[in-house]
Amino acid sequence: MKLKVYPDKNEVAKAFSEYLKELLATTNNKPIHVALSGGSTPKAIFDYMAENYKESIDWSKLHLYWGDERCVPPTDSESNYKMTVDHLLSKINFPEENIHRVLGENDPAQEAVRYGKLIEQQVPVDEDGPLFDLVILGMGDDGHTASIFPHNIELWESEQICEVATHPESGQKRVTFTGNTINNAKEVAFLVTGASKKEKVKTIINEEDGFEKFPAALVAPYSDKLTWFLDEAAANSLEL
Ligand code: 6PG
Repeated sequence: MKLKVYPDKNEVAKAFSEYLKELLATTNNKPIHVALSGGSTPKAIFDYMAENYKESIDWSKLHLYWGDERCVPPTDSESNYKMTVDHLLSKINFPEENIHRVLGENDPAQEAVRYGKLIEQQVPVDEDGPLFDLVILGMGDDGHTASIFPHNIELWESEQICEVATHPESGQKRVTFTGNTINNAKEVAFLVTGASKKEKVKTIINEEDGFEKFPAALVAPYSDKLTWFLDEAAANSLEL
């Protein structure tokens, strides 16, 4: 595990953009399959990328997926796909055919199956499952990641590529990657910023009492290539 701590969100955005650019540069002309996180953290990072890496990243090599999506239409303000379009895809020249969104407007259970099959068709697989080149994750204040929340942490162990999860407060249905889909990726990167995350970051990274009940603590790629991109506010409780 690598911890990369930066003064603020803008510096996280800059560092992560360089990390993604380097990942793309190391792969000749093979397509790169990347699963995005949702929520609010990526907004500033995507804005930065669109502003500063519009020309310097070869976007045509990327195939985009979502590690979780709210079961809402793609025009809904809750949609992670819409957030990505608003903050990144609408600002760069990105091949439409390389965008593989979760159809949030569909029946959740049917969509979890469809999306899993799409991933099996699009993404290289090994005996353990799909081999995403990179899975990007956020972490909720409650220690959830993707859309696996502490109250339904059993979804992490599912043998399915995707499952249907339920938000603990709103009851909103979501399609989410499962633990194996995340951990079978070649690389995993957490993007976690803000003081509200600092207690969980400390508990999880220091493996303090009860850490394993938080889904974010179960992220342990088989490749061992896990990088936490943190701002100082989120890393504030770590003794570094
Ligand atoms: C989602 C996300 C979720 C998110 C965390 C952090 O659909 O909400 O994928 O896992 O990454 O909840 O969200 P913030 O970035 O808004 O803090």
